[in-house]
Amino acid sequence: MKNDFLSYVLLDELRDNTFEEIYDKAETLYRDGKISEADLKHIAMHVVGINQIFLQQGEHNYTVRQATLDDVDALVDMVGFWAQQGQNLPRKRNDIVRNIQSFAVCVKDRSVVGCACLYVYDSGLAEIRSLGVSPVVQKQGQGRAIVQFLLRRARKMMIDKVFVLTRSPEFFAKVGFSKTVKEQLPEKILKDCDNCPKRDSCDEIAFIYEVQAQNNIEFKQA
Ligand SMILES: CC(C)(COP(=O)(O)OP(=O)(O)OC[C@H]1O[C@@H](n2cnc3c(N)ncnc32)[C@H](O)[C@@H]1OP(=O)(O)O)[C@@H](O)C(=O)NCCC(=O)NCCS
Repeated sequence: MKNDFLSYVLLDELRDNTFEEIYDKAETLYRDGKISEADLKHIAMHVVGINQIFLQQGEHNYTVRQATLDDVDALVDMVGFWAQQGQNLPRKRNDIVRNIQSFAVCVKDRSVVGCACLYVYDSGLAEIRSLGVSPVVQKQGQGRAIVQFLLRRARKMMIDKVFVLTRSPEFFAKVGFSKTVKEQLPEKILKDCDNCPKRDSCDEIAFIYEVQAQNNIEFKQA
């Protein structure tokens, strides 16, 4: 029912876009003189209206968005924190800057409270890396929202499968991933595992998500 309704009211061009992206498109049309100021205001009013209705639910007080260079300090801190806890691989600042387009951030009260990135291998398989949510806000849905944001991004890029190697198996099972074996992920094994000191006693579990097989990646966010 929901999909029937959306396919009736939504242009293909707008499907899978965030509100921010839709508003950006409208602003471009306005700047190019293709729509009027009244049209732009009309679109803004609807976006604000929808936002207000969701805000009234009182649950969604965070948002997930594409990372920008303004987020680099926060990303360095977040990735560094979880690397120190042994949950993620450390990453240098210049590596984060160079790969900024692959990162998503979760923002609450204007602060970055979570992040992750989507790393695409030569084969077209992708990996969720550097996932971390601030300990202060955990178990409130931010981790799920970041993963779903990246899965939707993967779907738009026509990526078939997204995997993760993790010490948080319960979380990935909850967000729809299925357990797999590392031997099924030759890309990862060639890239990182061969050089890892823990390769013979690895405690990470492999999980995979079949992106194109799911026709609706649920997306809860502000
Ligand atoms: C794993 C992590 C990202 C989860 O983030 P989060 O914001 O706390 O997770 P969410 O609130 O979105 O949880 C989604 C679901 O998973 C469950 N969940 C989250 N962490 C869990 C855990 N450690 N054990 C069991 N269940 C867990 C939640 O209870 C929730 O279940 P529900 O749908 O039944 O309510 C976060 O704990 C974290 O940053 N951990 C340290 C870094 C890390 O392990 N990163 C992963 C590296 S691959």
